[in-house]
Amino acid sequence: MSELNQEISQEKSQTVLSPTKSVKLRISRSNPEVNSEERFDEFVIPVEKYTTVLDAILNVKSHLDHSVAVRYSCRQASCGSCGMKINGKPALACFTKVVELNTDTITVEPMDNFPIVRDLAVNFTRMFNNHKKIMPYVVREDSEIKPDTGVKEILQTPEDVDKYIQFSSCIKCGLCNSACPTMAMDTSFVGPQALAQAYRYIADTRDKGKDNRLKIIDDSHGIWRCHFAGSCSQVCPKGVDPAMGIQLLRSYLLGLRD
Ligand code: SF4
Ligand code: FES
Repeated sequence: MSELNQEISQEKSQTVLSPTKSVKLRISRSNPEVNSEERFDEFVIPVEKYTTVLDAILNVKSHLDHSVAVRYSCRQASCGSCGMKINGKPALACFTKVVELNTDTITVEPMDNFPIVRDLAVNFTRMFNNHKKIMPYVVREDSEIKPDTGVKEILQTPEDVDKYIQFSSCIKCGLCNSACPTMAMDTSFVGPQALAQAYRYIADTRDKGKDNRLKIIDDSHGIWRCHFAGSCSQVCPKGVDPAMGIQLLRSYLLGLRD
């Protein structure tokens, strides 16, 4: 092994094997099917510079208590599975480094405004149903794209794409819905996630579903239920601004834009 490789290898083994500190991880435990009472189990976990909250929870699962229920998949802020409350704030566990929390005690709880399945895992049914309701796809009723017409794609300018691109980053993690005070008060409210996606498709110049989508959200449990707390936009890990999407949707309904 070359000198350089030896140095890299030594550095790596130090990074992997030498925990920089330990933290106390408090995990909310509950199982509504058995007993609705919540308790907190505490574990002391070694952490390194890049340890995420999800890594710490998986450490518990691997070595201390494999019965902890947590949903995750990609471990890179792409799948939207690992949302939870971390020290009281909605966040992705795989996108939150322990050292950045600047505390020796980390409390993880299931997201608010979602029914708990068990421990940190929540039920997404309501959010996905609302998402489906707003028709989250490009609607085209014409037969423009056909081999015999010679049209194979519908082109958009960079300006067209700019109108909706930030909204297409949504990974359906539900953090916006969990931060929303209106979701907590009105279980029929469609929620910021679905409203932001309604805007995403309406703003797409290829789409022809605007009128139907506006009819769906023009409801007392739809867009008019939002009180503009703005917390949805503050917690989004992907830079989506549902509060702005809701404002823009209202401008269509108020006749301020076509
Ligand atoms: S808008 Fe942001 S916070 Fe809400 S579900 Fe999509 S990615 Fe998550
Ligand atoms: S595990 Fe996929 S977003 Fe965190």
